[in-house]
Amino acid sequence: MNCYLIMGAPGAGKGTQASLIKNNYKIAHISTGDMFREAISSRTPVGLEAKKYIDKGNLAPDEITVYLVKERIQNDDCKNGFILDGFPRNLNQAKALDKLLKEEKIELKSVINIETDDKILIDRIVGRRTCPNCNEAYHIETKKPLKDGICDKCGSRLIQRADDNEEVVKSRLDVYHEQTAPLLKYYSKKGLVVNVDGMQDIDDVFNDIKKTWRK
Ligand code: AP5
Repeated sequence: MNCYLIMGAPGAGKGTQASLIKNNYKIAHISTGDMFREAISSRTPVGLEAKKYIDKGNLAPDEITVYLVKERIQNDDCKNGFILDGFPRNLNQAKALDKLLKEEKIELKSVINIETDDKILIDRIVGRRTCPNCNEAYHIETKKPLKDGICDKCGSRLIQRADDNEEVVKSRLDVYHEQTAPLLKYYSKKGLVVNVDGMQDIDDVFNDIKKTWRK
């Protein structure tokens, strides 16, 4: 079984590209951010704990996050492989993932790194609208739904994420640069990083991902 990682700053387009990858390559898309948001909306103990961190733009505790991923990859939809979006986010999580993949005999094929300039990320995030049902992301300028405010895929009413405001985005960016970006060095040493220019249109980013896809 193969595993892929998609990395990049908040708003780089990880979720957008992972959704295209899921449909094209028929692998599962696992977003730890989506899993936390679902837990928050269902008011589970995990969700209530994670909310304290997410609302401030900080990382949720590693133990909870690793546990969620460990459980999630056992699902049937992962049998054909999966892409992790938003995990790992620090060295401790990366080491936990190495251990998990080894135990489950899963091969890490590549780490897709979406490169962007921080200057555009705030506009992307503040303009994002999300489907709370199927998690599809839209944008008020660059990716409008066919019907205003309604998800093209499932017909649910789109919302703005609670952490998609300028103040929280700034802390998310700081956390990304301090804790997550250094992982690129960790994976580069293993020869796994594939850089993709995330400043292009959504379709062009995806075309580049397809050109470098490792089976
Ligand atoms: P998470 O949900 O993972 O958020 P994030 O990493 O901040 O990333 P985003 O979802 O904001 O952005 P994205 O890169 O997916 O961009 P998207 O495709 O939507 O995490 C949220 C929080 O949960 C964290 O802050 C943390 O608290 C917690 N958490 C999650 N994982 C954790 C972990 N492992 N450990 C601990 N805590 C964790 O695109 C953004 C917008 O831009 C959209 O509107 C889209 O339409 C548009 N867009 C996308 N691509 C393009 C393009 N090429 N051109 C123009 N517009 C584009």
